Amino acid sequence: MKGIILAGGTGSRLYPITLAVSKQLIPVGDKPMIYYPLSVLMLADVREILIIATPTDLPQFRRLLGDGSQLGLQLSYAEQARPGGLAEAFIIGADHIGDDSAALVLGDNIFHGHRFSDVLAENARDVEGCVLFGYPVHDPQRYGVGEADERGRLISLEEKPARPRSNRAITGLYFYDNDVVNIAKNIDPSPRGELEITDVNRVYLRRGQAKLVDLGRGSAWLDTGTPESLQQATQYVSTLEKRQGIRIACVEEVALRMGFIDAGACAALGVELAASEYGQYVMAIAEEVKGTAVRG
Ligand code: DAU
Repeated sequence: MKGIILAGGTGSRLYPITLAVSKQLIPVGDKPMIYYPLSVLMLADVREILIIATPTDLPQFRRLLGDGSQLGLQLSYAEQARPGGLAEAFIIGADHIGDDSAALVLGDNIFHGHRFSDVLAENARDVEGCVLFGYPVHDPQRYGVGEADERGRLISLEEKPARPRSNRAITGLYFYDNDVVNIAKNIDPSPRGELEITDVNRVYLRRGQAKLVDLGRGSAWLDTGTPESLQQATQYVSTLEKRQGIRIACVEEVALRMGFIDAGACAALGVELAASEYGQYVMAIAEEVKGTAVRG
Protein backbone atom coordinates (compact mmCIF):
# COMPACT_ATOMS: atom_id res chain seq x y z
CA MET A 1 0.00 0.00 0.00
CA LYS A 2 1.26 3.49 -0.92
CA GLY A 3 0.55 6.48 1.31
CA ILE A 4 -0.30 10.08 0.56
CA ILE A 5 -0.42 12.97 3.02
CA LEU A 6 -2.34 15.91 1.64
CA ALA A 7 -0.91 18.98 3.30
CA GLY A 8 -1.89 21.83 1.01
CA GLY A 9 -4.56 24.48 1.35
CA THR A 10 -4.28 27.98 2.74
CA GLY A 11 -5.18 27.41 6.38
CA SER A 12 -7.12 30.67 6.16
CA ARG A 13 -9.22 29.98 9.26
CA LEU A 14 -5.99 30.20 11.25
CA TYR A 15 -4.81 33.55 9.86
CA PRO A 16 -2.49 35.27 10.79
CA ILE A 17 -0.75 32.13 12.16
CA THR A 18 -0.68 30.54 8.72
CA LEU A 19 0.22 33.62 6.67
CA ALA A 20 3.90 32.68 6.66
CA VAL A 21 3.88 29.01 7.65
CA SER A 22 1.94 25.98 6.46
CA LYS A 23 -0.86 24.90 8.79
CA GLN A 24 0.45 21.33 8.81
CA LEU A 25 3.82 22.52 10.15
CA ILE A 26 2.56 24.47 13.14
CA PRO A 27 2.93 22.75 16.50
CA VAL A 28 0.40 20.52 18.20
CA GLY A 29 2.01 19.94 21.58
CA ASP A 30 5.75 19.73 21.04
CA LYS A 31 5.82 18.48 17.46
CA PRO A 32 4.73 19.65 14.02
CA MET A 33 1.15 18.77 13.07
CA ILE A 34 2.23 16.55 10.16
CA TYR A 35 3.85 14.08 12.60
CA TYR A 36 0.35 12.93 13.58
CA PRO A 37 -0.91 11.84 10.12
CA LEU A 38 2.58 10.57 9.28
CA SER A 39 2.44 8.29 12.34
CA VAL A 40 -0.96 7.01 11.25
CA LEU A 41 0.42 5.81 7.91
CA MET A 42 3.48 4.31 9.60
CA LEU A 43 1.26 2.42 12.06
CA ALA A 44 -0.64 1.05 9.06
CA ASP A 45 2.76 -0.26 7.92
CA VAL A 46 2.87 2.11 4.94
CA ARG A 47 6.46 3.13 4.17
CA GLU A 48 6.35 4.75 0.73
CA ILE A 49 4.68 8.07 1.27
CA LEU A 50 4.05 11.08 -0.97
CA ILE A 51 3.66 14.46 0.71
CA ILE A 52 1.60 16.95 -1.29
CA ALA A 53 1.78 20.64 -0.38
CA THR A 54 1.72 24.08 -1.99
CA PRO A 55 4.78 25.09 -4.03
CA THR A 56 5.68 27.67 -1.36
CA ASP A 57 5.45 25.26 1.56
CA LEU A 58 6.91 22.11 0.02
CA PRO A 59 10.58 23.03 0.69
CA GLN A 60 9.84 23.32 4.43
CA PHE A 61 8.34 19.81 4.54
CA ARG A 62 11.40 18.51 2.73
CA ARG A 63 13.63 20.31 5.22
CA LEU A 64 11.76 18.73 8.13
CA LEU A 65 11.52 15.15 6.87
CA GLY A 66 14.05 14.75 4.04
CA ASP A 67 13.90 11.52 2.07
CA GLY A 68 12.57 9.70 5.14
CA SER A 69 15.42 7.17 5.22
CA GLN A 70 16.29 8.19 8.81
CA LEU A 71 12.87 6.74 9.76
CA GLY A 72 13.11 3.75 7.45
CA LEU A 73 10.69 5.40 5.01
CA GLN A 74 10.75 6.47 1.40
CA LEU A 75 9.30 9.95 1.26
CA SER A 76 8.64 11.86 -1.93
CA TYR A 77 7.10 15.25 -2.55
CA ALA A 78 4.71 16.82 -5.05
CA GLU A 79 3.14 20.23 -5.49
CA GLN A 80 -0.51 21.12 -5.54
CA ALA A 81 -0.56 24.57 -7.10
CA ARG A 82 -4.01 25.50 -5.75
CA PRO A 83 -6.56 23.67 -3.61
CA GLY A 84 -8.30 21.71 -6.37
CA GLY A 85 -9.93 19.27 -3.96
CA LEU A 86 -8.95 16.26 -1.89
CA ALA A 87 -9.51 13.81 -4.75
CA GLU A 88 -6.85 15.61 -6.78
CA ALA A 89 -4.33 13.84 -4.54
CA PHE A 90 -4.87 10.64 -6.56
CA ILE A 91 -4.22 12.40 -9.86
CA ILE A 92 -1.09 14.13 -8.56
CA GLY A 93 -0.07 10.85 -6.92
CA ALA A 94 -0.97 8.50 -9.81
CA ASP A 95 2.66 7.54 -10.59
CA HIS A 96 3.44 7.13 -6.91
CA ILE A 97 0.50 4.76 -6.45
CA GLY A 98 1.37 2.76 -9.57
CA ASP A 99 -0.56 -0.50 -9.42
CA ASP A 100 -0.78 -0.61 -5.63
CA SER A 101 -3.56 0.20 -3.17
CA ALA A 102 -3.53 3.66 -1.57
CA ALA A 103 -4.02 5.31 1.82
CA LEU A 104 -4.80 9.00 1.95
CA VAL A 105 -4.62 11.00 5.16
CA LEU A 106 -5.29 14.70 5.52
CA GLY A 107 -2.30 16.51 6.96
CA ASP A 108 -4.37 18.25 9.63
CA ASN A 109 -6.20 15.20 11.04
CA ILE A 110 -5.19 13.87 14.46
CA PHE A 111 -6.15 10.36 15.52
CA HIS A 112 -5.44 8.62 18.77
CA GLY A 113 -6.95 5.81 20.74
CA HIS A 114 -7.18 2.39 22.19
CA ARG A 115 -6.46 -0.37 19.61
CA PHE A 116 -6.15 2.20 16.82
CA SER A 117 -3.03 0.47 15.44
CA ASP A 118 -4.93 -2.83 15.30
CA VAL A 119 -7.83 -1.19 13.49
CA LEU A 120 -5.38 0.24 10.96
CA ALA A 121 -3.56 -3.04 10.43
CA GLU A 122 -6.81 -5.01 10.03
CA ASN A 123 -8.22 -2.63 7.44
CA ALA A 124 -5.08 -1.84 5.43
CA ARG A 125 -4.75 -5.47 4.36
CA ASP A 126 -6.14 -6.52 0.95
CA VAL A 127 -8.33 -3.48 0.43
CA GLU A 128 -11.20 -4.13 -1.98
CA GLY A 129 -13.13 -0.99 -2.79
CA CYS A 130 -12.68 1.65 -0.12
CA VAL A 131 -12.51 1.81 3.64
CA LEU A 132 -13.75 4.95 5.41
CA PHE A 133 -13.47 5.67 9.10
CA GLY A 134 -16.44 7.15 10.94
CA TYR A 135 -16.41 9.08 14.19
CA PRO A 136 -19.40 10.34 16.20
CA VAL A 137 -19.54 14.14 16.43
CA HIS A 138 -22.10 16.62 17.73
CA ASP A 139 -21.87 18.81 14.58
CA PRO A 140 -21.95 16.37 11.62
CA GLN A 141 -23.11 19.08 9.20
CA ARG A 142 -19.49 20.31 9.08
CA TYR A 143 -18.22 17.04 7.57
CA GLY A 144 -18.83 14.21 5.16
CA VAL A 145 -21.51 12.10 6.87
CA GLY A 146 -22.09 8.37 6.39
CA GLU A 147 -24.44 5.61 7.45
CA ALA A 148 -23.66 1.90 7.46
CA ASP A 149 -25.72 -1.29 7.62
CA GLU A 150 -25.18 -3.88 10.33
CA ARG A 151 -22.33 -5.46 8.30
CA GLY A 152 -20.43 -2.17 8.13
CA ARG A 153 -21.31 -1.53 4.44
CA LEU A 154 -21.76 2.14 3.68
CA ILE A 155 -25.37 2.81 2.66
CA SER A 156 -25.46 6.61 2.43
CA LEU A 157 -22.94 9.39 2.12
CA GLU A 158 -23.39 13.15 2.01
CA GLU A 159 -20.97 16.08 2.09
CA LYS A 160 -21.78 18.70 4.71
CA PRO A 161 -25.53 18.02 4.71
CA ALA A 162 -27.86 20.62 6.22
CA ARG A 163 -29.86 17.73 7.78
CA PRO A 164 -27.42 14.90 8.54
CA ARG A 165 -28.86 11.37 8.51
CA SER A 166 -26.42 10.23 11.19
CA ASN A 167 -23.87 11.71 13.58
CA ARG A 168 -21.01 9.78 11.98
CA ALA A 169 -18.50 12.13 10.40
CA ILE A 170 -16.21 10.66 7.77
CA THR A 171 -12.69 11.32 9.01
CA GLY A 172 -9.75 12.34 6.86
CA LEU A 173 -8.27 8.85 6.54
CA TYR A 174 -9.17 6.74 3.53
CA PHE A 175 -7.98 3.35 2.18
CA TYR A 176 -8.59 2.45 -1.48
CA ASP A 177 -7.94 -0.22 -4.01
CA ASN A 178 -6.05 0.74 -7.16
CA ASP A 179 -9.18 1.82 -9.02
CA VAL A 180 -9.20 5.09 -7.08
CA VAL A 181 -6.86 6.70 -9.59
CA ASN A 182 -9.23 6.06 -12.50
CA ILE A 183 -12.24 7.09 -10.49
CA ALA A 184 -10.60 10.38 -9.47
CA LYS A 185 -9.65 11.09 -13.08
CA ASN A 186 -13.27 10.65 -14.16
CA ILE A 187 -15.21 12.74 -11.67
CA ASP A 188 -16.28 16.33 -12.41
CA PRO A 189 -15.44 19.31 -10.22
CA SER A 190 -18.19 20.24 -7.76
CA PRO A 191 -20.00 23.60 -7.83
CA ARG A 192 -17.18 24.98 -5.63
CA GLY A 193 -14.69 23.95 -8.32
CA GLU A 194 -13.05 21.07 -6.42
CA LEU A 195 -12.63 17.35 -7.06
CA GLU A 196 -14.49 16.07 -4.02
CA ILE A 197 -13.40 12.97 -2.15
CA THR A 198 -17.06 12.36 -1.38
CA ASP A 199 -17.76 11.96 -5.11
CA VAL A 200 -15.01 9.34 -5.34
CA ASN A 201 -16.45 7.55 -2.32
CA ARG A 202 -19.93 7.66 -3.85
CA VAL A 203 -18.69 5.62 -6.81
CA TYR A 204 -17.59 2.89 -4.41
CA LEU A 205 -20.88 3.23 -2.52
CA ARG A 206 -22.83 2.65 -5.74
CA ARG A 207 -20.72 -0.42 -6.44
CA GLY A 208 -21.46 -1.77 -2.94
CA GLN A 209 -17.72 -1.66 -2.26
CA ALA A 210 -17.50 0.94 0.49
CA LYS A 211 -16.89 -0.06 4.08
CA LEU A 212 -17.41 2.24 7.05
CA VAL A 213 -15.35 1.38 10.12
CA ASP A 214 -16.43 3.01 13.36
CA LEU A 215 -13.64 4.47 15.44
CA GLY A 216 -15.99 4.72 18.38
CA ARG A 217 -15.94 6.37 21.75
CA GLY A 218 -12.63 4.96 22.94
CA SER A 219 -10.68 6.97 20.43
CA ALA A 220 -10.07 10.59 19.59
CA TRP A 221 -10.33 12.34 16.26
CA LEU A 222 -9.38 15.92 16.76
CA ASP A 223 -9.98 19.01 14.74
CA THR A 224 -7.27 21.59 14.16
CA GLY A 225 -9.22 23.95 11.91
CA THR A 226 -9.64 26.96 14.18
CA PRO A 227 -7.49 28.58 16.89
CA GLU A 228 -9.84 27.17 19.53
CA SER A 229 -9.86 23.57 18.23
CA LEU A 230 -6.10 23.71 17.71
CA GLN A 231 -5.73 24.78 21.32
CA GLN A 232 -7.98 21.92 22.44
CA ALA A 233 -5.99 19.41 20.40
CA THR A 234 -2.79 20.67 22.00
CA GLN A 235 -4.34 20.37 25.45
CA TYR A 236 -5.55 16.83 24.78
CA VAL A 237 -2.12 15.70 23.55
CA SER A 238 -0.19 17.46 26.32
CA THR A 239 -2.47 16.21 29.10
CA LEU A 240 -2.20 12.56 28.00
CA GLU A 241 1.54 12.80 27.40
CA LYS A 242 2.19 14.32 30.86
CA ARG A 243 -0.09 11.89 32.67
CA GLN A 244 1.19 8.74 30.97
CA GLY A 245 4.80 9.77 30.40
CA ILE A 246 4.53 8.71 26.78
CA ARG A 247 4.40 10.70 23.56
CA ILE A 248 1.72 10.59 20.90
CA ALA A 249 2.96 10.60 17.29
CA CYS A 250 6.67 10.57 18.08
CA VAL A 251 7.69 9.41 14.62
CA GLU A 252 11.10 8.13 15.76
CA GLU A 253 9.42 5.90 18.36
CA VAL A 254 6.85 4.65 15.85
CA ALA A 255 9.65 3.82 13.39
CA LEU A 256 11.47 1.89 16.12
CA ARG A 257 8.42 0.00 17.38
CA MET A 258 7.34 -0.87 13.83
CA GLY A 259 10.81 -2.29 13.17
CA PHE A 260 11.62 0.29 10.44
CA ILE A 261 14.80 1.32 12.31
CA ASP A 262 16.84 -0.25 15.09
CA ALA A 263 17.52 1.13 18.57
CA GLY A 264 20.95 2.48 17.57
CA ALA A 265 19.49 4.52 14.72
CA CYS A 266 16.71 5.75 16.98
CA ALA A 267 19.22 6.82 19.65
CA ALA A 268 21.20 8.75 17.01
CA LEU A 269 18.03 10.62 15.99
CA GLY A 270 17.45 11.47 19.64
CA VAL A 271 20.98 12.82 20.03
CA GLU A 272 20.38 15.28 17.17
CA LEU A 273 17.40 16.67 19.11
CA ALA A 274 18.94 16.32 22.57
CA ALA A 275 18.46 19.98 23.47
CA SER A 276 14.69 19.40 23.68
CA GLU A 277 12.61 17.20 25.97
CA TYR A 278 11.31 15.54 22.81
CA GLY A 279 14.86 14.54 21.85
CA GLN A 280 15.53 13.22 25.35
CA TYR A 281 12.38 11.12 25.11
CA VAL A 282 13.57 9.63 21.80
CA MET A 283 16.90 8.73 23.41
CA ALA A 284 15.18 7.21 26.45
CA ILE A 285 12.91 5.07 24.27
CA ALA A 286 15.90 3.82 22.29
CA GLU A 287 17.69 2.92 25.55
CA GLU A 288 14.60 1.13 26.86
CA VAL A 289 14.28 -0.98 23.72
CA LYS A 290 18.03 -1.71 23.70
CA GLY A 291 17.79 -2.85 27.34
CA THR A 292 14.88 -5.15 26.53
CA ALA A 293 16.82 -6.64 23.61
CA VAL A 294 19.89 -7.28 25.80
CA ARG A 295 17.82 -8.82 28.61
CA GLY A 296 16.14 -10.71 25.79
O1 DAU B 1 -11.56 16.34 7.96
C1 DAU B 1 -12.49 15.45 7.39
C2 DAU B 1 -13.33 16.12 6.30
O2 DAU B 1 -12.40 16.57 5.30
C3 DAU B 1 -14.34 15.13 5.71
O3 DAU B 1 -15.34 14.83 6.65
C4 DAU B 1 -15.01 15.74 4.47
O4 DAU B 1 -15.84 14.78 3.86
C5 DAU B 1 -13.95 16.19 3.47
O5 DAU B 1 -14.54 16.83 2.36
C6 DAU B 1 -13.00 17.16 4.16
O6 DAU B 1 -13.75 18.32 4.52
P1 DAU B 1 -13.08 19.72 4.86
O7 DAU B 1 -14.10 20.79 4.67
O8 DAU B 1 -12.43 19.64 6.19
O9 DAU B 1 -11.97 19.84 3.76
P2 DAU B 1 -10.99 21.05 3.58
O10 DAU B 1 -11.30 21.70 2.28
O11 DAU B 1 -10.94 21.92 4.78
O12 DAU B 1 -9.59 20.31 3.45
C7 DAU B 1 -9.07 19.47 4.43
C8 DAU B 1 -7.55 19.63 4.50
O13 DAU B 1 -6.95 19.28 3.24
C9 DAU B 1 -7.09 21.04 4.80
O14 DAU B 1 -6.05 20.98 5.75
C10 DAU B 1 -6.55 21.59 3.55
C11 DAU B 1 -6.16 20.37 2.77
N1 DAU B 1 -6.44 20.53 1.34
C12 DAU B 1 -7.70 20.80 0.96
C13 DAU B 1 -8.02 20.91 -0.36
C14 DAU B 1 -9.44 21.20 -0.80
C15 DAU B 1 -5.45 20.36 0.43
O15 DAU B 1 -4.29 20.10 0.78
N2 DAU B 1 -5.74 20.48 -0.89
C16 DAU B 1 -6.99 20.76 -1.33
O16 DAU B 1 -7.19 20.84 -2.56
